[in-house]
Amino acid sequence: MTCEKHTVVFEEMSVTNPNAARELLTLKEQLRLFAFGEEIASEQDGDETLTTQAGLNKRQRLETLLEGELDFHGEDSSYASHDLHAFAAKFPPQLPRAFIRGLTVPGDVVLDPMMGSGTTVVEAVLEGRHGIGLDIDPLALRLGRVKTMPLDVDRLRIVGNQVLTRVYALLSDGDVIETNLDAHFDDQTRAFVNYWFTPTTQRELMALVLPIQEIEDAALRRFFELTFSSIIVTKSGGVSRARDLAHSRPHLDTTKTPKSALDQFALKLRKNLASIAQLETRQATALTLTGDARCMPLADCSVDLIVTSPPYANAIDYMRAHKFSLVWFGESVAGLSKLRADYIGSERVGAQQYQALPERPETIIQMLAALDPNKAAILRKYYIEMRAVLREIYRVLRHDTAAIVVVGTSTMRSIDVQTHHCLADIAATSGFEVVGVVQRKLDRNKRMMPARFGKKIGSMIEQRMHEEYVLGLFKS
Ligand SMILES: C[S@@+](CC[C@H](N)C(=O)[O-])C[C@H]1O[C@@H](n2cnc3c(N)ncnc32)[C@H](O)[C@@H]1O
Repeated sequence: MTCEKHTVVFEEMSVTNPNAARELLTLKEQLRLFAFGEEIASEQDGDETLTTQAGLNKRQRLETLLEGELDFHGEDSSYASHDLHAFAAKFPPQLPRAFIRGLTVPGDVVLDPMMGSGTTVVEAVLEGRHGIGLDIDPLALRLGRVKTMPLDVDRLRIVGNQVLTRVYALLSDGDVIETNLDAHFDDQTRAFVNYWFTPTTQRELMALVLPIQEIEDAALRRFFELTFSSIIVTKSGGVSRARDLAHSRPHLDTTKTPKSALDQFALKLRKNLASIAQLETRQATALTLTGDARCMPLADCSVDLIVTSPPYANAIDYMRAHKFSLVWFGESVAGLSKLRADYIGSERVGAQQYQALPERPETIIQMLAALDPNKAAILRKYYIEMRAVLREIYRVLRHDTAAIVVVGTSTMRSIDVQTHHCLADIAATSGFEVVGVVQRKLDRNKRMMPARFGKKIGSMIEQRMHEEYVLGLFKS
């Protein structure tokens, strides 16, 4: 792919609060000049680690943060808007928060170019930093927008009651629902819907979609759409007939009796209203955009910190789960499938130009090629794509700032492909200083990772699925 350089600057973007953006950009410069150390010490009220960082330069602070505890087991990750919707492989909010607090000041710009459910962007605005999130996934975009937009909860409650009243009226008039079910989908999409949703669930979902689509205020409408989506894309497959939905390949479970979509929606609405009410953006702005991390619509040297987590080679097919919800918003199965090729880590390998990689990834790719040339091509494609991402990350970062890249482990044909070391080597050849590569243990109860069936508990592969690595990269 070719990447044209874009020159969008932060102040010119459509942001949730442009006046605050201008004021805070001035404040940012002042803080940079006068009070960085003091600001960190006073803001974090009693936090020893951060207080002692006051005298350190940014690179030293990055080193210190990497040496600290990054597991965050047992900590609440459901505060503010974090829990509005499930998302595979989302990281704990404490992780971006630690780096945002330690390496930026209010008004700085924090970016996640593969934002997924928007965890970094939410944390940025909660901490008074401007957050930017990019993703190519349409559901991720919907999540990012809603999760960073404070809304009037009383108004949401009124609209929610109107939606539910209309739903019951629609359901008592079967014809409207049936006509809309017929008109809403093309043949292929209708076949998909018929396969995965029972007729009763289809009627209930359509009865919800119709009044939601009629909400005029786009921000409110998106909130309800997301709440609707959150009853479908869940670990268990929600109201669909799928199991293992959001974290692996969905399987049809003919024995499953899906719960009532109306009950689930009402329950989730109550929960989501309470969550969005907690979103306090402290005058910070959030911008979430459709964008490819290999070619970002951002100016050179315009970002103060990146915290991101790319997909893993060969691991999660986001579109496979997300289309369960997106088809209800007018997307077609065929259209969504076309997007797949642009996902980093996707298994689609077209004719690609050969590009040499640093020694370690080359060696691993050669080892894999001896066993499975197709898998080796997938892995080469992944590292080439990630090199494009790391180069873009380097370009948009200001000097004297950091990128935090969180990567999981991948095993292909029983070969540990050492993603963390390979990406560190690629980052080093893209201009970065690799300050540290540290392991963190996943909280088995929390992070939704791809399930790999048939792996014995305690086996080496099983163990490795529960760890990931945090790369600390510095642009001097
Ligand atoms: C591991 S998830 C990120 C999870 C995120 N850290 C969170 O807490 O929710 C990786 C994300 O990368 C996105 N992605 C894949 N290819 C991309 C590309 N070419 N450009 C931008 N985002 C991409 C996927 O859609 C997915 O949302």
